[in-house]
Amino acid sequence: MKALTWQGKRRVSVETVPDPVLREPTDAIIEVTSTAICGSDLHLYEVLGPYMAKGDIIGHEPMGRVVEAGPGSGLAVGDRVVIPFNIACGRCWMCERGLHSQCETTQVREQGTGARLFGYSALYGSVPGGQAEFLRVPHADFGAIRVGDELPDHRYLFLSDVLPTAWQAVKYADVTEGDTLAVLGLGPIGQMSARIGRHLGARVLAVDPVPERRAMAARHGIEVFDYGDPAIEAIRDATGGRGPDAVVDAVGMEAHGSPVAKLAHQAVGLLPDAAGRAMMEHAGVDRLAALHTAIDLVRRGGTISLSGVYGGAASPMPMLTLFDKQIQVRMGQCNVKAWIDDLLPLVEDAADPLGVDDLVTHRLPLDEAPRAYEMFQKKKDGCVKVVLDPKATLGT
Ligand SMILES: NC(=O)c1ccc[n+]([C@@H]2O[C@H](COP(=O)([O-])OP(=O)(O)OC[C@H]3O[C@@H](n4cnc5c(N)ncnc54)[C@H](O)[C@@H]3O)[C@@H](O)[C@H]2O)c1
Ligand SMILES: [Zn+2]
Ligand SMILES: [Zn+2]
Repeated sequence: MKALTWQGKRRVSVETVPDPVLREPTDAIIEVTSTAICGSDLHLYEVLGPYMAKGDIIGHEPMGRVVEAGPGSGLAVGDRVVIPFNIACGRCWMCERGLHSQCETTQVREQGTGARLFGYSALYGSVPGGQAEFLRVPHADFGAIRVGDELPDHRYLFLSDVLPTAWQAVKYADVTEGDTLAVLGLGPIGQMSARIGRHLGARVLAVDPVPERRAMAARHGIEVFDYGDPAIEAIRDATGGRGPDAVVDAVGMEAHGSPVAKLAHQAVGLLPDAAGRAMMEHAGVDRLAALHTAIDLVRRGGTISLSGVYGGAASPMPMLTLFDKQIQVRMGQCNVKAWIDDLLPLVEDAADPLGVDDLVTHRLPLDEAPRAYEMFQKKKDGCVKVVLDPKATLGT
């Protein structure tokens, strides 16, 4: 089959690799019909390179049709399914508490990390990912989300990551009706966090340096600001000088505005693997601009919710301000399955309350993935979200 593989820093290519096979009774193999590129994939493309091996298949936002079903998978050939990015058993102590991203059956103990993830480096188990024609789905009995046949793929696809991640971000931000919520970053995660905030009755103010991303959010009733100090002042003014009740950081470790750490990122990406890993683990590599903005902006006694991924192990944090402002901070990988019952009715609603029809800017053949990665990373051509279609051929 064809699959998108990691080849080196900022280098991915479509290669022919062996088809996946069933290994456990609870496995299923799906033929992928849509598979999205995520901001998290850009971390692999750039700074998490030391944890990747040449040839690793990337991708963790797939959906498709079951073509082979293990006897314990509870699925049948032909079922249409969306696959969550985390792999969880559904039965362990963590899963029973809705903490699927900490699943004790699939935790990567040798790395000291949580549940395995599709296509997300040695840190998360080196599981072959979903930007491919076919995907082996371990623990499909619990993970696979069966969906109907009526609606197009893009209505369901984002149940794999973007929608539950955004939902969890807003829930962790503790937002209720009438609150003010600031969202930093208007990539796919920020777009959906902002819209979910509105859906739950909050006033939402959002920041991003990219004009078309601000324009997209503005179409959904979000008050938008360019990034930089004036934005912070404007949001503070708009909240009576106090600051918003909650801030969602949907930017993560590759934020604009952190020049020193940017150099560290470049160094990590260029060093040989062992040295790069040592630097990730012992130096302050995270670009903390967005997190510092969140800490500065949130009102005293407010809540910060981090959905943006941070990866360094020794990043300096302004503990004095966090403590003095009495801020609550919540973060983590999304527990995808915990939120599907809330989200499925919303994506199936004909009125499209979260505006899922207005997110994908590019649908491209899988063969075009290398170009798509570059376009998404550089935010060219109005790119907000790319969906790859393994069945389409070049020129379609
Ligand atoms: N917690 C989870 O389970 C989970 C799941 C998916 C994605 N993520 C993470 O969420 C983050 C966002 O993902 P995405 O797909 O939306 O990515 P993205 O790269 O498209 O979005 C990031 C956005 O932040 C903006 N930005 C950069 N610096 C900024 C700053 N200083 N202030 C304000 N905005 C700034 C960029 O212009 C961009 O629009 C990533 O870090 C990703 O890894 C986490
Ligand atoms: Zn993702
Ligand atoms: Zn589990």
